[in-house]
Amino acid sequence: DLPKTVRLVEVGPRDGLQNEKQLVPADTKVELIRRLAAAGLRTIEVTSFVSPKWVPQMGDNTEVLTRVLGGAAPAGLDYPVLTPNLKGFEAALAAGAKEVAVFGAASESFSQKNINCSIAESLERFRPVTEAAQAAGVRVRGYVSCVAGCPYEGAVAPEKVAEVAETLLVMGCYEISLGDTIGTGNPVSIRRMLEAVLRRVPAERLAGHYHDTYGMAAANVYASLQMGVAVFDASVGGLGGCPYAAGASGNVATEDLVWLLHGMGLQTGIDLDALVDVAAWINAEIGREPASRVARAVLAK
Ligand code: HMG
Ligand code: MG
Repeated sequence: DLPKTVRLVEVGPRDGLQNEKQLVPADTKVELIRRLAAAGLRTIEVTSFVSPKWVPQMGDNTEVLTRVLGGAAPAGLDYPVLTPNLKGFEAALAAGAKEVAVFGAASESFSQKNINCSIAESLERFRPVTEAAQAAGVRVRGYVSCVAGCPYEGAVAPEKVAEVAETLLVMGCYEISLGDTIGTGNPVSIRRMLEAVLRRVPAERLAGHYHDTYGMAAANVYASLQMGVAVFDASVGGLGGCPYAAGASGNVATEDLVWLLHGMGLQTGIDLDALVDVAAWINAEIGREPASRVARAVLAK
């Protein structure tokens, strides 16, 4: 049986925009987040507190977070932000963050390229973040990248994904988001990966974060639903890509996912038409055509 209700985590303002070469004004980011909330998204990852030398697009993190938290935000909204280390956590906390995410990987080379340290070192950096977060009453989510393949190493062992996921869970992360960073997974490899992870982390604590580089993300979501995963990350308009994974394109488009889920009778609380309008709007703002099939189909009507 598939879950009846699915929670979507919108990552467009962060994962979607982090790789844009042209700096997107903070005003546009804040308006994007407002429109996403109005379309029914309840969890919106708004920015990341990483080095502006590494990811210039997220250099306005404090402004974006304080503005979205300070506005007349509807109740029940969560605005998580990425924090790779204590320095990032402290800046996020000062800006009012109530939820943060640490991000590790199941591949050594990707860990080095993305956050400049080994997997073991990254976990040692996350520990003080989870401790400080707990003391401050801030929730922590944990990411594992390269769960179905690495841009530098190729295949990644499901057991390695499971090991990192379990470590993050034990450290206090309330949910572990499994990232198919380069979208090379398919329903069979995702199933194998999830089988290994589920031996150590219950399905209720997992999320799927699937990039759609090869058009497999919807199929991978379906395979994950069949295994009891009921939280998925997605990016409006299919925006995005990882700066440290060449050729990686965006996350599964939120509207593609909503189309799939609603079509199967599952509930998300999201207004599809409003969401497609947001996809069209943000793509126009950054000078692109909507990448998602659903946005193109709905807009053509
Ligand atoms: P580092 O150079 O090893 O850090 O970078 P360091 O501790 O040696 O510090 C060097 C400089 O960075 C110092 O400044 C620090 O103050 C500064 P300087 O003295 O040279 O002026 N610094 C910071 N500044 C702002 N915020 C911070 C911070 N930390 C140190 N938090 C670091 C390590 C992690 C900071 C760096 O490698 C980095 O910022 N990497 C960017 C990572 C990133 O944002 N990647 C994309 C997001 S992850 C992703 O997309 C995958 C995901 O979507 C899941 C999936 O799809 O798989 C989540
Ligand atoms: Mg990602």
